[in-house]
Amino acid sequence: MTVNVQELVIGILGGTGDQGRGLANRFARAGHRVIIGSRSEERARAAAQELAGSGGPVDGMTNADASRSADVVIAAIPWEGHAELLASLAAELAGKVVIDCVNPLGFDAKGAYPLPVPEGSAAQQAAAVLPDSTVVGAFHHVSAKLLLDAGVDTIDMDVLVLGDDREATDLVQALAARIPGVRGVYAGRLRNAGQVEALTANLVSVNRRYKAHAGLRVTDI
Ligand SMILES: NC(=O)c1ccc[n+]([C@@H]2O[C@H](COP(=O)([O-])OP(=O)(O)OC[C@H]3O[C@@H](n4cnc5c(N)ncnc54)[C@H](OP(=O)(O)O)[C@@H]3O)[C@@H](O)[C@H]2O)c1
Repeated sequence: MTVNVQELVIGILGGTGDQGRGLANRFARAGHRVIIGSRSEERARAAAQELAGSGGPVDGMTNADASRSADVVIAAIPWEGHAELLASLAAELAGKVVIDCVNPLGFDAKGAYPLPVPEGSAAQQAAAVLPDSTVVGAFHHVSAKLLLDAGVDTIDMDVLVLGDDREATDLVQALAARIPGVRGVYAGRLRNAGQVEALTANLVSVNRRYKAHAGLRVTDI
């Protein structure tokens, strides 16, 4: 089956947060219909209203309705509540590609550090609680600040895309490329998502030292 990436409707769980609104903003600017999901329909609608007029139509719905109505769903929720929310949406997300950008990180006086995850990574945890979905890890390193900054037209970075299904990782690479400046790069199977999620702690350190919004570029490809 050939998928026209431009026509994909993108749902975002926890789309009221910084990362969710940031991704919604970029995909709406690229012309996609975007559905902001939330535990509260009211909060979802308010967030959608804020982004109205940025490009493609933006709607706000409960997480369950957003899951049902979208072609591809991004989980942009905090690590706390990740397993619980996704497990509660297993039926709505069945048969769909679910993109997980969740970084299980802790923060203390020394900065950010990766939390241990029994399943190996947030993405693997998502796959465990969503047996009928195709989980892909991506967008872990994209700064919400850049995504939300109306003055930033191009985001200069590679998005590492991880998953066990070639069609799904190809699709998510193509979706990443809908954001000007971004390239989606395949970076391995889901079992290798843990390092990519944990690497975000290093990028947080880079950002703090250099007052930056650092991203990665993979060379020679
Ligand atoms: N911020 C970044 O720069 C960035 C970059 C890359 C990746 N990420 C990842 O993206 C995810 C979201 O980050 P964020 O900064 O946008 O987080 P956030 O603002 O703290 O949370 C996003 C949304 O998730 C919902 N939520 C909060 N607690 C929840 C729970 N226990 N169960 C279900 N939903 C809950 C809330 O929406 P409602 O109350 O409306 O339901 C909230 O607005 C994180 O896992 C983070 O690691 C963030």
